[in-house]
Amino acid sequence: MAKILVNSSGPLHGEVEISGAKNSVLPLLAATILTDQTCTIEGVPDLVDVNVMKEMLTNYGSDIDDREKGVIRAAMKEVRCCEGKAELVQEMRASVFTMGPMLARHGKVIMPMPGGCTIGKRPIDLHLKGFRALGADVVEDGENERVIVTAPEEGLTGDAIYLDFPSVGATENIMMAATLAKGTTIIENAAKEPEIIDLANLLNKMGARIKYAGTDMIRIEGVEKLSGCIHNVIPDRIETGTFMLAAAITRGDILVKNALPGHVRPIIAKLKECNVDVEVLPEGIYVDARNRELVATDIKTLPYPGFPTDIQSPFMAFLTTVKGQSIVRETVFENRFMHVVELNRMGADISTENREAIVPGGKKLKGAKVRATDLRAGAAMVLAGLVAKGTTEISEIYHIERGYENFVGKFKGLGADIMKIEQD
Ligand code: UD1
Repeated sequence: MAKILVNSSGPLHGEVEISGAKNSVLPLLAATILTDQTCTIEGVPDLVDVNVMKEMLTNYGSDIDDREKGVIRAAMKEVRCCEGKAELVQEMRASVFTMGPMLARHGKVIMPMPGGCTIGKRPIDLHLKGFRALGADVVEDGENERVIVTAPEEGLTGDAIYLDFPSVGATENIMMAATLAKGTTIIENAAKEPEIIDLANLLNKMGARIKYAGTDMIRIEGVEKLSGCIHNVIPDRIETGTFMLAAAITRGDILVKNALPGHVRPIIAKLKECNVDVEVLPEGIYVDARNRELVATDIKTLPYPGFPTDIQSPFMAFLTTVKGQSIVRETVFENRFMHVVELNRMGADISTENREAIVPGGKKLKGAKVRATDLRAGAAMVLAGLVAKGTTEISEIYHIERGYENFVGKFKGLGADIMKIEQD
């Protein structure tokens, strides 16, 4: 099993280039199902999750050309199969983003649900609610651990859909399904993440008629057919935040290039509250934490434009090192404090109760054997390892490779003492 070793590295310094957004590219690739023409997606990051999505598409019948670095050309001339592969869905929850486009294009999709009671534990009820509202028949086949969704013979029909929570995935799935439905669909309490706007832009280039993406009420006029297009993925705002925090936690200075400041406003605001200097320059976001006394602040995760849940764990790693106590509240996911146990192994002394973590601050972390319990928790472990005394050994790093392109290489480029090792 591969591991990452990080040694105490001193202040990081230099420039880092942000890759295309993982959370954008996955739904963008899923959207290529909606046409029989070729879609070219540019600025594609080299990630395990992208490979899983490519396999997912190939399984349905797509021809994928990825010979050019960072570019994927996908063309599904005809649908060969409408059932998602269980092992791919198990590997990546975002596989369910193919349901909406498959339903719209083919009229039927069968999606395996990993782990039996997954619908309960990590629900897709809002996605299904949307499909039902568009007229689809949804059968939750518990015995075979799968969901079967079928459009009526005359096709899907637009309707108004209210989301009980502004789910990113449900908004994207319903938006894609509605592009080819008859009439108008309105998604109320829609998610407003930049990735939703990126997807709407791609779909509109393909000929869809989507308005007001990025607000909480998206309007989709169904069209008969969609065509191919060329589209460039937006920069990854979570990777951007991660490298901003790398400057902050190591008390270094980093210019984060190819970043969109408008997408990371809460991270900029919170770093400034901690007394980190953040400047938006024409060439990128410059973060300077050298020779400053950094102080605690409280964090509450929220749907966009609130503080992103995906930056909660990296920010918590940083907060363990500043002066004073911080409170971190997680409101988006029920159980997203798994990294606390790992940070505590390094001496963080964080306590949790329900959805709240109390971070004492001012800790001198020490190297330990820790796990990347999920993708972002893995990033948090690397950040903590950069300032911990001695060596931090991070296992289960496949989580990190799912969502960060060339993570170790980019940190090395900033002066970090970090390496990936293969171990039996
Ligand atoms: C996306 C992101 C993920 C991010 C999350 C929240 C991708 C590939 N992943 O995940 O990195 O952490 O947004 O910003 O874009 N929920 C329901 N029913 C549903 C769907 C969701 O109850 O049908 C709940 C979830 O359990 C969770 C909350 O809604 O508590 C947010 O989930 P959602 O916004 O759907 O996240 P994802 O789209 O899965």
